[in-house]
Amino acid sequence: MKIGILTSGGDCPGLNAVIRGAVLKGIAIHGHEFVGFLDGWRGVVEGDIIDIPRSMVRGIAKQGGTILGTSRTNPFENGGGPEVIKAHMDRLGIDAIIAIGGEGTLAAAKRLTDVGLKIVGVPKTVDNDLDATDYTFGFDTAVQIATEAIDRLRTTGESHHRCMIAEVMGRHVGWIALHAGMAAGAHAILIPEQKVSIEQITEWVQEAHDRGRAPLIVVAEGFVPDHMESPHSERGLDTFGRPRLGGIADRLAPEIEARTGIETRATILGHIQRGGVPSAFDRVLATRLGMAAIDSVVEGYWGTMVALKGTDIEHVSFDKALGQLKTVPQNRYDEAAVLFG
Ligand code: F6P
Repeated sequence: MKIGILTSGGDCPGLNAVIRGAVLKGIAIHGHEFVGFLDGWRGVVEGDIIDIPRSMVRGIAKQGGTILGTSRTNPFENGGGPEVIKAHMDRLGIDAIIAIGGEGTLAAAKRLTDVGLKIVGVPKTVDNDLDATDYTFGFDTAVQIATEAIDRLRTTGESHHRCMIAEVMGRHVGWIALHAGMAAGAHAILIPEQKVSIEQITEWVQEAHDRGRAPLIVVAEGFVPDHMESPHSERGLDTFGRPRLGGIADRLAPEIEARTGIETRATILGHIQRGGVPSAFDRVLATRLGMAAIDSVVEGYWGTMVALKGTDIEHVSFDKALGQLKTVPQNRYDEAAVLFG
């Protein structure tokens, strides 16, 4: 078989390990041929591909980013659609597609499989918000990067007796904030799933300060304090029509400073959390998912994605996998909150 691979949506440490796992298993066990669509669905819509020989995946499991490039192109727009894509696949002799992406990518893959295209999915997001898989690769790396950064903020905060706020990724969910915050011993963790009042936040800050600590707050970018309407909409929409995030820490810092009198600084970690080498956990998970995607293709499990369940990799239908995000449950937040203040 000739298999086309694409990486779509925001990049994520581990994408190259998926590609390598799929290509090595596909060639070694089944004698498949591989091509890569460049820049996600753009390459599919335009039939823009490169060959992926075995030599191309040598040593790439530890490389950040994606060797295929990525984009947020919608395959149903920009001159795309099932007929156009099918015509490219026929012309290029591509039998099946492995789509590596998040909720948006997999939703598009589902629509295309619904009309007969042969596609299997591999879930990807640093946010860890895909419901049908226990973890997504990239998340562990992002948490590690965020934790290291927060540890650094702690020592400078302690030296100046300041309150430090670290803003981490998490548009809809607070998994990175929860894990990095717990790992780094934050005095407050603020996530989109939880409404928290400014009074509660300042209480936690004051408590930590009164014990002689430099208060440390970890806030997910999508958090909205209950006294602010929607600080994000004020910044307009980005190129993809999403509210422009980034900056909630900047909004909170002067308010905390004014209410407590404690000098406060904000740091936005941003895309640093998505760059660079994947952790060993993410490399292993991504490699296993890539290899399992080959099983999906061989078995003809079209319209499914591979998923981590416990320590096993399973095949889950797009129907079951998509539609609801995996949010931080109340008990996980309550557990972390025991340590606040
Ligand atoms: O979905 C992953 C994510 O990293 C979000 O946490 C973040 O809001 C978004 O992507 C950033 O997207 P972009 O790279 O397009 O700015």
